[in-house]
Amino acid sequence: MSDSPIVTSMNEQSPCVPTHIAIIMDGNGRWASQRGLPRFEGHRRGLESLRRTITAAEELGVRYLTVYSFSSENWRRPVTEITELMGLLRRFIRNDLADLHARNVRIRVMGVQDGLSPDIVALLEDAEKLTAANTGLTFVVAFNYGSRREMTDAMRSLAEDVAAGRLAPSEITEEMVAGRLNTVGIPDPDLVIRTSGEQRLSNFMLWQASYSELVFSPVLWPDFGREALNASIEEYRQRDRRYGGISAAMGGNR
Ligand code: FPP
Repeated sequence: MSDSPIVTSMNEQSPCVPTHIAIIMDGNGRWASQRGLPRFEGHRRGLESLRRTITAAEELGVRYLTVYSFSSENWRRPVTEITELMGLLRRFIRNDLADLHARNVRIRVMGVQDGLSPDIVALLEDAEKLTAANTGLTFVVAFNYGSRREMTDAMRSLAEDVAAGRLAPSEITEEMVAGRLNTVGIPDPDLVIRTSGEQRLSNFMLWQASYSELVFSPVLWPDFGREALNASIEEYRQRDRRYGGISAAMGGNR
């Protein structure tokens, strides 16, 4: 099997810790229904988990943390729930941005603006601008994000260059595709965690997660935090990342 170029990222600050962790935050609804609470309460508590997880990631020396906050498929939810999720994002940016900025956190956003209200677009853009020069943790918010759309947009952009005569189809490389994704300049995730025991990627970082280790945590997202993050990293450490080669234990060259 031919293999793509390896996009590795050594975490120079903390070699045992993944450089980039991406999380599919799942289980808010189940957490709420188990307690006889409205789904929104699960999302609200999910925001608390997100805050705990950002702090834990910073303390561990993780360089990039990406979270799937609102997928392109989430528009299929009831309008009231969508409104609540939009409200939580507003609350998060308004309440936490100054603190995150003071902690040297850089905010990046993945996803499209279509369908978002102008105030949300402005909040996200302002957060990116304000924190652009920060050098601590890069916190990537996937909001109104879907991987197929992201790749389709990249392909369209390449096709436009071909149609305009700026690029020959034979010149297209994997690096060019990667350079037109939302994650340009960000290393691929070493570890993708999905909480709540569900085991699928649900249109999340399908290109970037080609060589990621996948950890499926049984913890529902509102219960997630430092301890569950540590457990997921511990599971990641037991893995033998081969990138299509052979195991180091078998004499493979990594
Ligand atoms: C999945 O749980 C979670 C979401 C669709 C939303 C995630 C949102 C947060 C954690 C809130 C805070 C974050 C921001 C930045 C707005 P689910 O509702 O699908 O749970 P279920 O599968 O148990 O029903």
